[in-house]
Amino acid sequence: MTILQVENLSTYYKTDRGEAQAVENVSFSMKKGEMLGLIGESGCGKTTVAQSILRLIEYPGRIVSGKAYLDGIDLLTAKQDELEKLRWKDISVIPQSAMNALNPIYTIGDQIVESILIHEDVSKATAIKRTEELLEMVGIKKNRFKNYPHEFSGGMKQRVAIAMALSCNPKLIISDESTTGLDVLTQAQIIALIKQLQKDLGLSIILISHDLPMVTSVCDRVAIMYAGKIVELANTQDILKHCSHPYSNGLLNATPDLSNPDKEVVSIPGSVPDLVKPPTGCRFYDRCKARMNVCKEESPDLKEIRPDHFSACFLEGGGYYHVQ
Ligand SMILES: Nc1ncnc2c1ncn2[C@@H]1O[C@H](COP(=O)(O)OP(=O)(O)O)[C@@H](O)[C@H]1O
Ligand code: SF4
Ligand SMILES: [Mg+2]
Repeated sequence: MTILQVENLSTYYKTDRGEAQAVENVSFSMKKGEMLGLIGESGCGKTTVAQSILRLIEYPGRIVSGKAYLDGIDLLTAKQDELEKLRWKDISVIPQSAMNALNPIYTIGDQIVESILIHEDVSKATAIKRTEELLEMVGIKKNRFKNYPHEFSGGMKQRVAIAMALSCNPKLIISDESTTGLDVLTQAQIIALIKQLQKDLGLSIILISHDLPMVTSVCDRVAIMYAGKIVELANTQDILKHCSHPYSNGLLNATPDLSNPDKEVVSIPGSVPDLVKPPTGCRFYDRCKARMNVCKEESPDLKEIRPDHFSACFLEGGGYYHVQ
């Protein structure tokens, strides 16, 4: 069953030099219970996709066009009061900084209880019980219910933010770089926790990150974004074994492989183009070793190159080489 269907989403930001086309014509769908990784270098539009789906884009940004159906309801045209009800209850976020989700002046328990009471018609006793269960689920002892956010370490605060995101049983959770800034060990623990919860509770999660090995280790499918567009979309095994788009290959080649220490790590030369004046043709043109004349003039569409494997590239079969 499809839980989220994004169609032709475009979101721009006004700047002094004109509008930055941060997200251009992005389409993808997600099945219920799936974990989809949204990956790409910084500035490729991942957060803008998330914020657009959540309808949190504010001036100087604007959603130019598109649909985002969550279980059949278009989040992009839903009325404001309807949207307020959907947030947390149907769609919630684990933000990059837990402090964006937590209020420093309330205890963590009270905040989660409050969130449940606002969105659900339950008694306070039920909300307290559920909060205790949620805290336990994310590895926090219930005797810490009355502690304030500043009494927790970064990793523990992120666990509280996860409990908060889960508090109203949402249909979809978006985790936007929610482990960035934590030490490597804590990052791994938080990601393992998110994965475990996804499996145990059948959650649908969009995991946004620039960390390809982390995303491929836990996600069922991966969407690779470059300069505001999805350039490749497939299940994780297909991405790893039959990676097609030159940008995706570039990301894989730029990633160390712990099981193969002899692998040569090669970063992609150049940088993401200026999205105020993006290239007319393929947005990866300047950095692509396989570019052809047509790529300068025309923009490749995302096409199905194998069953359920999509790539936006003019080369035969989508891309030009396969990772062994
Ligand atoms: N408030 C803003 N004003 C102007 N440009 C913005 C704003 N927010 C994001 N952008 C631009 O939109 C593009 C995509 O940004 P973002 O969605 O944050 O990418 P990512 O999450 O992949 O790093 C970038 O070029 C960024 O500079
Ligand atoms: S369309 Fe052309 S420039 Fe773009 S990724 Fe494919 S080969 Fe490279
Ligand atoms: Mg971001």
